Amino acid sequence: MCEIVGYIGTREAAPILKKGLKELEYRGYDSAGIAVLGRGGLAVEKRAGRVEGLSAALRGRCGIGHTRWATHGAPTAQNAHPHVCRKIALVHNGIIENAHTLKEECLARGEKFLSETDSEVVAHLVARAYRGDLLAAVREACSRLEGSYALAVLAEDGKQIVCARKKSPLLVGKGEDGCYAASDVAALPPKCEKAYALADGDFAVLGKDLALFGADLCEKEGEEVVLERKEEGGLPFGFRHFMRKEMAEIPRAMANSRLEIKETGDFSRFYEVLCHAEYIQIVACGTAYHAALCFEHAAEKFCRVPVEVTTAGEYRYRDPIVPKGTLCLAVSQSGETADTLAAAACAREKGAKVAALVNVLHSSLARAADFVLPTRAGGERAVAATKSFCAQLAALYSIVHALAGIAGREAPPFSLAKEAETALVRSEKTARWASRFAAARSVYFIGRGADYCAALEGSLKLKEISYLPSEGYAAGELKHGTLALIDGRTPVVAIATSRALAEKTMNAVSEVRARGARVYLITTLPELVSRGEIEDFVLLPPCEEEYSPALTAIPLQMLAYHTALACGNDPDKPRNLAKSVTVE
Ligand code: AGP
Repeated sequence: MCEIVGYIGTREAAPILKKGLKELEYRGYDSAGIAVLGRGGLAVEKRAGRVEGLSAALRGRCGIGHTRWATHGAPTAQNAHPHVCRKIALVHNGIIENAHTLKEECLARGEKFLSETDSEVVAHLVARAYRGDLLAAVREACSRLEGSYALAVLAEDGKQIVCARKKSPLLVGKGEDGCYAASDVAALPPKCEKAYALADGDFAVLGKDLALFGADLCEKEGEEVVLERKEEGGLPFGFRHFMRKEMAEIPRAMANSRLEIKETGDFSRFYEVLCHAEYIQIVACGTAYHAALCFEHAAEKFCRVPVEVTTAGEYRYRDPIVPKGTLCLAVSQSGETADTLAAAACAREKGAKVAALVNVLHSSLARAADFVLPTRAGGERAVAATKSFCAQLAALYSIVHALAGIAGREAPPFSLAKEAETALVRSEKTARWASRFAAARSVYFIGRGADYCAALEGSLKLKEISYLPSEGYAAGELKHGTLALIDGRTPVVAIATSRALAEKTMNAVSEVRARGARVYLITTLPELVSRGEIEDFVLLPPCEEEYSPALTAIPLQMLAYHTALACGNDPDKPRNLAKSVTVE
């Protein structure tokens, strides 16, 4: 997604901006640019492609930088930020929803546009309003904007950077050598000693000092964020990719993410709400949505509490019914996913208590929720979520356990860290399956019950990094239409961890085998692996079937990883995708 950095101080800005952008690179982008204010005025460099290609030669001690993930207009140098209009240079993250109308207005005034982006119109509005007071001009421009934005703006004749924020994340910080702006803590250098999260509608001025302002332009105190940067280091010896390194961290991520939800202690307020929750709604996107589906299965089975899971982008627009006593869980690794933020706000407006299950504690979602439930997976740099999924499951299964206790029911305790170690070792054999998968036209993942949720996640992972068309399917549904697509060139991954449902899944295996498909089995049930219909298998340690997605995810992630390599793709940086999706 688009990322912003800014610096003003006593050092050369360009190397600091480049370093900050490099730290955020893993989140996905397609073009980059910086603008530096030096003795000779404003110098801008923009390019399609990687940050490395930007030179650090622009001289000056004040500058802004940007990586762009194309939404309006192709990923070209022209569409890259910063956008310049007369004395103003600007970087923007978010989407200006009324850009078309505003642009028409500018065009009618005879103004010329150089890009196809929605962002350039903001530079025009600021330039029009600028009469020597940049903060006032940015504020005036923002009052015309609909949509979401994080902005860093500088004026050629000024000695400051003005930042503004609505719905898109933005931090500002301060150290001995100057002031900083960044979309995320990871881009703030160690020299930045204090950082503040801009609240919605707020502004900041970075100059000799740092000043924060509310929407009324009255100066205000900032909300300080914890500068936790230790997990964002390089790739340790022995790993070629962050994705593989992060998978190796799954056992620790799961162990650290179990929550002690009880009457006393840190989560006692949440426990109180849980005691009175009559209905649970979960909003999430992508992998986090699949973790929520796994929770639904376990919670309904063990606790008999009704749970409704909706992808966040759908929830917010369907005018959802939020019954009294609803607890809304918003699940997100980054805590910055625009759809999840909006869905959580919608649930809250309709009277639900909102608990944010997030991996990034200083995130917007954490700040907007009534309760924060942390997953402690550590920083995740690969775009494909791996350890954060298993950590989300560990935390969600802790909630299942607490809920069951409240309902006077029994739920087996969850602890699969040891089993996950074994799963990692046993999953390596999927490397041998990869060449056949890489050559396939399409792939199916099938399962029933909790295994169906795992199948959805396995399919998403494969699509994301191998770019192969694939589908996760309820095993019993195949015969209602999709079986028509199965032939000898279709690898099928069957997931079977439920003794009660295993034979039913194996019926579906027989059906696809009869159409020539090769079947790869992922199971915890030793009796299934000697079946003649199976091409190969990963046998996982025994585990409670409702919790099994935390284990079956591991060979599925590993298969996706090896297939991506067999396809010649970089699994850490899949094309077109971003780590945190901060636009709708
Ligand atoms: C997972 O591999 C994906 N990168 C994606 O589906 C992700 O889970 C989704 O965008 C939600 O992100 P979040 O957890 O940060 O909200």
